[in-house]
Amino acid sequence: MTAQTPQRYLLFRRKLFLFYEKHGRDLPWRRTTDPYRITVAELMLQQTQVERVLLKYAAWITRWPNWQALSKATNRELLAQWSGLGYNRRALYLGRMARSIVHEYDGAMPRTLPELQKLPGIGRYTARAILIFAFNEPIATIDTNIRRVLLHEFNLPGTTPTSRMEALAEKLLPKRRSRDWHNALMDYSRLVLPRRIEGIRSGGRQSKFEGSLRQIRGEIVRQLTMRESITIQSVASTQHRTVDDVLKAAEGLRKEGVIVIEGRRIRLS
Ligand code: ADE
Repeated sequence: MTAQTPQRYLLFRRKLFLFYEKHGRDLPWRRTTDPYRITVAELMLQQTQVERVLLKYAAWITRWPNWQALSKATNRELLAQWSGLGYNRRALYLGRMARSIVHEYDGAMPRTLPELQKLPGIGRYTARAILIFAFNEPIATIDTNIRRVLLHEFNLPGTTPTSRMEALAEKLLPKRRSRDWHNALMDYSRLVLPRRIEGIRSGGRQSKFEGSLRQIRGEIVRQLTMRESITIQSVASTQHRTVDDVLKAAEGLRKEGVIVIEGRRIRLS
């Protein structure tokens, strides 16, 4: 990497904010600073595209407007409401998170990184994102989108270590506008950068669905939101898949804590 001057950072900030003023997206989770709503959005966005999240976000918030309401939802209700987003474990995380916040934190989401990262489903990126988008805290965070922007803008190789990326992100951050800055980075990544950049993994998002084990997992969860239990065999024959594939899919769900397998029957855990 060539030496980066403060001037270079200044220019990049100005360019990004100009872009954001003109082309920033109006997304529902940007119209709120409620940590609950922001956390729901971030969990949904972890592995699912914005367009798909938009189809599910509002209904979730209407049904469960706060941690208190969410803490009373059953796993079955959570999974049914989540359907279409994939990686169902995230729905269960939200339920566990709600119960933990209601019972251990008196209903108020904690505001420190170590406490947030102890909650189920919240890692390094998400803990920071919550503090940034809810409270405009002057810290930086890097997801796949932001990583792509930094690599591209500063001509860095895809192999650049995380620590290096984090140091750069901290230096670039306009401390009083952390919320806008991170929104701008995400929009720039999605709207300006080419889909594939030489040497940069796009990564992180969902792969092909049709014919995948993920499709079977989705089908198992869908059926279990409607009946108490199903058999491996019935899923295999209705979905025209091999028993072996269904078993593999079920095993994945079992490891995630979504289902239990009892002999040849499957039920929600
Ligand atoms: N991906 C993850 N978080 C996001 C956000 N807040 N806005 C847009 N895309 C995102």
